[in-house]
Amino acid sequence: MEFSTKSGELAALRVDCIAVGLHAQGELTAAARALDVACGGELRAAVKSGEATGQRGSTVMLRALKGIASARVLLVGLGKRGEATDRAFGEAVRAAVRATGALRTLAIDCNDWAPQGRDARWRAAQLVISAREAAVRTDELKSRRDPEPRLPAQVAIVVGARADESPAARGIAHGRAIANGADFARRLGNLPGNVCTPTFLAAEARALGRAFGITTQILLPRQIEALRMGSFLSVARGSDEPARLIVLKYDGGRRGAAPIALVGKGITFDSGGVSIKPAAAMDEMKYDMCGAAAVLGTLRAAAELKLRVNVVGVIPACENLPSGRANKPGDIVTSMSGQTIEVLNTDAEGRLILCDALTYVGRFKPAAVIDIATLTGACVTALGNVNSGLFANDDELAQQLAAAGRRHGDPAWRLPLDDDYQEQLKSNFADMANIGSPANAGAITAACFLSRYAKDYRWAHLDIAGTAWRTGAAKGATGRPVPLLTEFLAERAG
Ligand code: BES
Ligand code: MN
Ligand code: ZN
Repeated sequence: MEFSTKSGELAALRVDCIAVGLHAQGELTAAARALDVACGGELRAAVKSGEATGQRGSTVMLRALKGIASARVLLVGLGKRGEATDRAFGEAVRAAVRATGALRTLAIDCNDWAPQGRDARWRAAQLVISAREAAVRTDELKSRRDPEPRLPAQVAIVVGARADESPAARGIAHGRAIANGADFARRLGNLPGNVCTPTFLAAEARALGRAFGITTQILLPRQIEALRMGSFLSVARGSDEPARLIVLKYDGGRRGAAPIALVGKGITFDSGGVSIKPAAAMDEMKYDMCGAAAVLGTLRAAAELKLRVNVVGVIPACENLPSGRANKPGDIVTSMSGQTIEVLNTDAEGRLILCDALTYVGRFKPAAVIDIATLTGACVTALGNVNSGLFANDDELAQQLAAAGRRHGDPAWRLPLDDDYQEQLKSNFADMANIGSPANAGAITAACFLSRYAKDYRWAHLDIAGTAWRTGAAKGATGRPVPLLTEFLAERAG
């Protein structure tokens, strides 16, 4: 699918199909009314006959209408007027591209489809993001690929007869970069642990860097050791797959301007280690590197958009497996910060690798640090698969991230970090334990643990355990929170 803008009278456009909206009870949108007038009432007739209802998600195809240059008109159901939502907008777009999959060229007039306050740029960006979701595939490793999703090759966004096309054009570029970044993250997320190893992740980061002018540096175990990342390495030691610390630099901003640092959890498989997980659904722990994938996908989007901002990505990558060298409950490790940690549960490994990465990013004197991690099952219990968990030591940063997430269907909800929760991390033998009390604010105590390593800068933490992938029949990575992070960076870049 390629996207472009078009202006001009709808009836005179020459494409394989024009899609226009229809509200509930067959109420025509302005675009539909214009076509209806041009063809002498055929759209209204389709409503009168009961064929076209305007029900959300429904589509009706009309053919060979007199007075309309295009061969087809698709009526896309939008539901009740005045009840438009971002989500319904996306559903309508997907219904339109799916209904025209056999065709080559589609023009969509979605000027009346979005909620109040969503402008032409937003509509174009969201249209691209939503349409591209219909093209997502998960068959890379099947010997016989799934049938290709049938989608139109060219999708034009109609901006109105004499409207300026440039906001929509900018929206298309923005949406395309987000979709490409999310695709990149989804692919890595869906690859299994035996393919997507720390070494593989590092090679992918390298290749991304070469393709997009992002500097990459891959640190090997002995270099990680030289940095004294004793906590990260204690997790990595349980596996035969060697760890990697992946460092990426995108320099789109002013020379010397403080960067935004993105830190992604890169556990390429989480068995739990000696505190081993139950077998059911353990396969989904291949997704425990989705924070890392989001960092890479976001850097891709930032570079594609040439955002005027400096970004550093840091990814600690390793496996969490049980073995003769693995962490044992009660082991005490020394983090790069010098703080010691009693590993009471080896399955709370994400914070053990992230704490050293958080200490490491301090050297870049970042304007803000955001870590992204599939960190806790407790976050899924709290927020389900709608909102990512958001934590921050800075109100403005939290507010900016939450707003960025709401723009393209990638919301995050802030949870508290009161000092009172910190007490759960007290250890008799080390500076802190790596878990709090069982069944007691687990997402928050995990964030509290991280906060102890993020004292020197503005910091936020996104717990994406519930939002990075879907389970069940539609199992697959979502690409979240690439949209949130890209919006945040784009906003900062101005
Ligand atoms: N990667 C998991 C978190 C997770 C679990 C995400 C299930 C999505 C679904 C993380 O490493 C983990 O195992 N966390 C433990 C922490 C606990 C031992 C304090 C958890 O959430 O159970
Ligand atoms: Mn774990
Ligand atoms: Zn994990």
